[in-house]
Amino acid sequence: MNEIFDINDEKKFFQLIENNRAYIKYLYEDYAGPSSELTAILQYTYQTIIVGNKKIKNLIKKISYDEMEHLEGLGTAIWESGFDPRFWYLNYFNAKYVNYEMDLKKLLLKNIEDETFAAKRYREQAEKIEDPRISSMLLDFARDEERHAMLFKKAYISLFGRS
Ligand SMILES: [Fe+2]
Repeated sequence: MNEIFDINDEKKFFQLIENNRAYIKYLYEDYAGPSSELTAILQYTYQTIIVGNKKIKNLIKKISYDEMEHLEGLGTAIWESGFDPRFWYLNYFNAKYVNYEMDLKKLLLKNIEDETFAAKRYREQAEKIEDPRISSMLLDFARDEERHAMLFKKAYISLFGRS
């Protein structure tokens, strides 16, 4: 039987993550924290709507689907660890976490920065986590984010050169 964490009981949550499974905190952070898969999905959906360039629009959309897979993977890991996969990390998710940049050049640079940051964080977490299944999932995600960063870089260069 899953032990469902009650969001109103913060003390219990911190006890649980301190006591046995510190990695749960990482999972929640990646899942629905300020820089998370949920943030990425919403940011890319916003960009898919506002970007006029068809090729870039499709690229962003495709990448957002990978992030949805990541979200589901993280949520499933949280659930299977006995925690409630609701969208929160210390607080409920806030749509203010999303970057609403509209300028194509700046938005691509932001995406490259975000993907690079996400990949680095997944690699660092994978090192610290002792559960090999979770670590290998995070390493898979890191590789996806590195590929995303590269695709955004290519798109950026094709439009704006190597500045
Ligand atoms: Fe991701």
